[in-house]
Amino acid sequence: MAKRTPLISGNWKMHHDHLEAIRVMQKLNFRLPLDAYKTVDVSVHPPFTDLRALQTLIDVDEMSIILGAQHCHWEDKGAFTGEVSPAFLKKLNVSLVIAGHSERRELFHETDEMVNKKVLAILKHEMTPILCCGETLDEREANEADAKVQAQVTAGLNGVAPGDVARLVIAYEPIWAIGTGRTATAADAQAMCKIVRDTVKNVGGSDAAAGVRVQYGGSVKPANIKELMEMPDIDGALVGGASLDPDEFAAIVTY
Ligand code: 13P
Repeated sequence: MAKRTPLISGNWKMHHDHLEAIRVMQKLNFRLPLDAYKTVDVSVHPPFTDLRALQTLIDVDEMSIILGAQHCHWEDKGAFTGEVSPAFLKKLNVSLVIAGHSERRELFHETDEMVNKKVLAILKHEMTPILCCGETLDEREANEADAKVQAQVTAGLNGVAPGDVARLVIAYEPIWAIGTGRTATAADAQAMCKIVRDTVKNVGGSDAAAGVRVQYGGSVKPANIKELMEMPDIDGALVGGASLDPDEFAAIVTY
């Protein structure tokens, strides 16, 4: 079967205010040849305060870059001070929303149950979740990586219709490789991404497993992207640090 269209996503985390974001986006767009989008989907996930400016820029300059967000609440509206509704993101033409990034799980105590509610809410508003999973170094060394990832994926997909699972994105991001300069070897990343796909098969069946796009994330750089993308179960990358610089990110996208 033909491989799925790869998706390479830049998660800017808490970097680039809206003015910097405009500059970075213009440079990125300039660096990416139109041909690039024929073979790969590209998304950027800026902080919330940048979204309106980037939506306008994408619209006016007819950019092919997909607008993404890093997080949202699961309710449409209500007394949730500081939170952002998925409905508001949809209004800004956001198409992809990250759910359950390890930094949100660790620093903001997001549980599997909360992540699952977000996945369902994102789908309800006709956007695509990028569901994140991944083990800590301790879990890896204790041979618990497989079980951790299986549990996170299974919990994250609870109640999602098989047809929706097929159009989902799941990012395998080993926590020990995030921002550390340590990347999983391509073979290890492949083995874990296969576990993600097998878990999707158990939950949603063969079609869902064949359709779901599995990204690898954790110190992806221009130097290691090609090798990762050659793996049969890796359909893209979720890039942190290297996505902040338009030259570096463009080099990753055009691997
Ligand atoms: P780095 O690419 O900086 O390791 O970050 C990965 C990540 O967390 C993307 O969501």
